[in-house]
Amino acid sequence: MTIGLSFLLGLVAGSVSFYMLGLWWPVALLVGLVAWLAFGLFDVKMDSAFTLMAGALLIFCVSLSGMIMRADSQLSGLQYAETVLEDGTQARYPIPLLGNARYGEEVYRSIGCAECHTQQVTHDGVEFDIKALATEKNLPAVKDAIDRYHRVTGSPASGGAAHGLPAGEWETVAHGANAADAAKARGFLSAAGASVDVQVRFHGEDLEKDEFINPDGRGWGKRRSVARDYLFAEKPMLGSVRIGPDLANVGTRHSRATLLRILLNPQLIRKGSKMPQHRFLFEEVDEGEANTITVLKGEKNIYYKPTKDADALVDYLLSLKGAQYPLEEAPVYQPFTSSLPVPAAPAEEEADGKEGGEASAESAN
Ligand code: HEC
Repeated sequence: MTIGLSFLLGLVAGSVSFYMLGLWWPVALLVGLVAWLAFGLFDVKMDSAFTLMAGALLIFCVSLSGMIMRADSQLSGLQYAETVLEDGTQARYPIPLLGNARYGEEVYRSIGCAECHTQQVTHDGVEFDIKALATEKNLPAVKDAIDRYHRVTGSPASGGAAHGLPAGEWETVAHGANAADAAKARGFLSAAGASVDVQVRFHGEDLEKDEFINPDGRGWGKRRSVARDYLFAEKPMLGSVRIGPDLANVGTRHSRATLLRILLNPQLIRKGSKMPQHRFLFEEVDEGEANTITVLKGEKNIYYKPTKDADALVDYLLSLKGAQYPLEEAPVYQPFTSSLPVPAAPAEEEADGKEGGEASAESAN
């Protein structure tokens, strides 16, 4: 085989290993080199059963390690994350199911709620807005960095934003950038000495409704679901058909009383609801017992008391509130930190903005 043709084959092997199998680049380079040498120098020809079998075995091993073992090690290495909720409370996420809720998960599974309900919030995309703050001293360098950002990303230079940049004031530099461009902007600007603040905006019909950012939102979660959400689900019940709303975050939407009524008779909560009744989860009891729901049937009142299963099921539903915990791989909407009213000295404010910006841009990568 000519050296040119064998080089092309080596290039194909290397590219396939890198781009399609996702191998680490030195390994992909090695695969490419070995293929080039094998075809070129050692004159391997695909003309015997032995070379064909060896080739097939090699491809099998490479794809097994790249697509299955790598994914497996990524997922099995998942751990708790330390996170901070919007109200400032710190939490370890995910939270294991406790007591009754664990049994409730079994009830959810056995009744088949997953036939009509998913537990998987999706999102369509994420956008970044970037603000920068320059001082008198680094102003020229920062202006240069903004120019360079617009040149490199080919984004319109928004009416000479770079040249109107005032010193000592936060100014929006990029609007609606993708993750790669946002990372570039952050890199250029921090290298020039500017303070950087990044706003992360999500859109997707499952997410919280927001008139400006996400007008079509259904309010099923603050962020998309990720693998870490299911760390403690014995067998995640993602569901595949959405006849009813997604339940990944249902614990934040309804109270215990409402959830019990939805199970007993959804029409009590919403007229014309298409959810079936689950009356078998309740028993009729006499007047005067605690923890009952009273429903007027014909002429008389009936008292329904939730069974142990119903109580556990509701405990489980109330525990489903994961889609509000910000994670590194799935942050929730972050406004500009520099425009939040912080009662802090200006110098600290600046540092805050920078930190926030770096954290959010990294997490989106
Ligand atoms: C045959 C399909 C079906 C099954 C099975 C089903 N649901 Fe529903 N569910 C629905 C529909 C449809 C709605 C929306 C009702 C409406 O229009 O208000 C709903 C609504 C709900 C809601 C209110 C959600 C919200 O965001 O307001 C909860 C909670 C709920 N279901 C829980 C359950 C549980 C728990 C089970 C298993 C015991 C279950 N569902 C089984 C179809 C189903």
